[in-house]
Amino acid sequence: MKASVAKNIISIVSNKGGVGKTSIAIAAGCYFSQKLKEPTLLFELDCSPGDFGTLFDIDKKNSLEMALRYPDSLNKYVKNINCNLDILMGLQNPLAAESVKKEELFLLLDVIKMNYTNVITDTQTVLNSMTINMLSESKKILLVTDSSIESFNRVINYHDILTKGFFISKNIINLLVNKKTIKDCFKLWDFARISGLPVQGFLPFEKNFNKSVFAEGSSSIQRSGFYRQVGKIIENGLFKGVPDVN
Ligand SMILES: Nc1ncnc2c1ncn2[C@@H]1O[C@H](COP(=O)(O)OP(=O)(O)OP(=O)(O)O)[C@@H](O)[C@H]1O
Ligand SMILES: [Mg+2]
Repeated sequence: MKASVAKNIISIVSNKGGVGKTSIAIAAGCYFSQKLKEPTLLFELDCSPGDFGTLFDIDKKNSLEMALRYPDSLNKYVKNINCNLDILMGLQNPLAAESVKKEELFLLLDVIKMNYTNVITDTQTVLNSMTINMLSESKKILLVTDSSIESFNRVINYHDILTKGFFISKNIINLLVNKKTIKDCFKLWDFARISGLPVQGFLPFEKNFNKSVFAEGSSSIQRSGFYRQVGKIIENGLFKGVPDVN
């Protein structure tokens, strides 16, 4: 791992399942590490458990559980995917997440921030205290919805919970609409108008995309239209106007 100080801590969230949180997190991690060639950590906070173990063939012994216990040995518990991209798999037991103390997470985050320029966090649908603590440290939160009205209503409620219940700054939360099809009656500006939230952009529904492409290695990933679309979102100012909260 190279010495650096994290400039981007981005959390991908949604209280709607299957909207593409994990796919977006991994594509963003690949983009930062490969295109920008910056040391990047993909940090899994989905303890339901999440998909990283299966997608990246990670040994169950090397998870967030050990990294929280021995933060100074973080490099032993991450899996290196390419020269700039490391992956930290989440806790394997959803109940264990409830017992992680804020101080424990922050000690690990201190080590993470010293070692990576970018940290991309994939979260789970059900909010827990570990996710809230991570969001309080994030510089940008991408709130993901698909273009269905029920998903849209859910994420507006989620936004309220985050900002009014947990005092997460509105300024760092942007809406991202995934799986948009041309048949959808909502246009991008409708989402912005109805929600009153800044919309980061949308990702089209790609009928040939499946997140298992991430298990196939970097050349397959870079060929996918989904990866290019996520790259465009990043290039088109993912970080414009992001206040320095840390
Ligand atoms: N833009 C897209 N076009 C087509 N399929 C997509 C798109 N984005 C994601 N998918 C597919 O949708 C499914 C769910 O994606 P993903 O697992 O990333 O969502 P998630 O929000 O992380 O789900 P969960 O709530 O279970 O963690 C996957 O099969 C993925 O390949
Ligand atoms: Mg997921």
